[in-house]
Amino acid sequence: MDFAHCKHLRFLGRHMHSVACRCLLLVFLSLVFSAFLCPTIPGFGGSLNSFMSVDTYSSQSRLESVVRKDKFLEVPQIVWGLNNQKIAFARACLTARMLNRTLLMPSLSASLFYKEIDLLQPISFDRVFQFERFNSLCNGFVQVGRYSDLSNRTGAFELPKGSGRKWTVERDLNQLKECREDPTDGFEVIRIVGKNPFLWHDHWPVKDYAKVFECLVLVDEIAEEAEKVVYKIRELGSKARRKTDVLEKNETLKDSSSQLTPFVAVHMRIEKDWMIHCKKLEQRSNTSQICSSKEEIVERVGHIGGLGYHTVVYVAVADSLLEDPSILSGWKEGLLPFEKKKLGVWDIYKKYPYLIKSAIDYEVCLRADAFVGNSFSTFSNLIVLERTQRMIRMGVTRSCGVDVRWPSYAYNILGEAGGPQKWFTDMSGSSLQAISYGSNNISC
Ligand SMILES: *[C@@H]1O[C@H](CO)[C@@H](O)[C@H](O)[C@H]1NC(C)=O
Ligand SMILES: *[C@@H]1O[C@H](CO)[C@@H](O)[C@H](O)[C@H]1NC(C)=O
Ligand SMILES: *[C@@H]1O[C@H](CO)[C@@H](O)[C@H](O)[C@H]1NC(C)=O
Ligand SMILES: *[C@@H]1O[C@H](CO)[C@@H](O)[C@H](O)[C@H]1NC(C)=O
Repeated sequence: MDFAHCKHLRFLGRHMHSVACRCLLLVFLSLVFSAFLCPTIPGFGGSLNSFMSVDTYSSQSRLESVVRKDKFLEVPQIVWGLNNQKIAFARACLTARMLNRTLLMPSLSASLFYKEIDLLQPISFDRVFQFERFNSLCNGFVQVGRYSDLSNRTGAFELPKGSGRKWTVERDLNQLKECREDPTDGFEVIRIVGKNPFLWHDHWPVKDYAKVFECLVLVDEIAEEAEKVVYKIRELGSKARRKTDVLEKNETLKDSSSQLTPFVAVHMRIEKDWMIHCKKLEQRSNTSQICSSKEEIVERVGHIGGLGYHTVVYVAVADSLLEDPSILSGWKEGLLPFEKKKLGVWDIYKKYPYLIKSAIDYEVCLRADAFVGNSFSTFSNLIVLERTQRMIRMGVTRSCGVDVRWPSYAYNILGEAGGPQKWFTDMSGSSLQAISYGSNNISC
């Protein structure tokens, strides 16, 4: 899970002072950029597998801009948790877009180390996400290129990103603007040196990030592993239901396909380092809505209305908690909690490094019929953002009150009837920060 959260929140604290001016600037920027935003795609329906298959941008001729394919942007290796890496990647793409350049395919990091750079295990972007698919889905918006596309490997312009208090959002933006002018623009490659893109200033609205995320499709191997896990979860649910039906001499559900058996995914953040961190955060922000104990999560999930008897609850927890039997106890009668080990899918996960394990869990949570997470977690936030996108495409504009097909909830905020609060990402946010790095603004 996203341990890196703790780290970046600390960074954030340091930058808080500039939030006010940042907001003003971002409101302005979002106005400027809204000119480029395209409406959502109507007519989406059906399975989750098909929701990625819409060619989002290439067919939209009214996008007048085309990203240059002979000018490139190079960024430092992308690090930390899966979702920190996705955000960093999207930020690098949007920076390249602003410079009208193709982003040279960056290295992601397979392992989760913060300091020991040599342990970061670089992993190529295209080992995790489909390269061609990305470019086709994001055509006209952002593009990723290969190093083999370069004609001259020696002619890079090195651009150091500034840092520290004095390096404001405005200065950062001005630096980027200057790079759009000659002589810098003349270079085939602009190589940004310094910190990981996750720590760069953010100049883009939520919708732009969402567009980039939509183009990230897992490579088949990883998607198939996630598929196996989801299959196993649904199969268990349908077996459990069949068993009771037989006991009750009621066969009506017997022929229902196991692939239709709904399940709930709960992203349970209760690791020790998270708890210590979130308590501090609660003190700092004078709130009690960040940390939820295991008991509170279990209790609130139990109060979600409409969960049928024998609903499987997939509990997504950090590997270190898989040995803790109490994770699976105390759930409301009728809910069937499973984590990777009890589910019998640990063999699938254990073959892979951290990043891919996390990508599989992400996919499983994304596909759950209901998802419950913590609104202060990047992992939970990106899942809800994708789920929200999906619902918007289906024509749902607000899901807070109505019963929607794929509801999401934040367990750290008390909702109605003792349950967790419904959660729907505010897609009009002027920066990703508003929705992803610690906020209980869940727009419901
Ligand atoms: C990028 O450059 C191409 C080629 O010069 C141009 O046609 C296009 O309009 C530019 N896009 C933007 C967003 O400036
Ligand atoms: C590559 O770029 C460098 C710096 O811009 C230039 O001096 C050199 O002539 C270029 N080489 C080729 C083969 O174009
Ligand atoms: C069997 O289950 C169905 C659906 O849950 C229900 O409508 C029906 O009354 C049940 N029949 C018996 C005999 O319990
Ligand atoms: C913290 O919040 C409580 C209740 O919301 C309020 O009464 C109190 O004044 C706040 N304290 C500070 C230091 O803001």
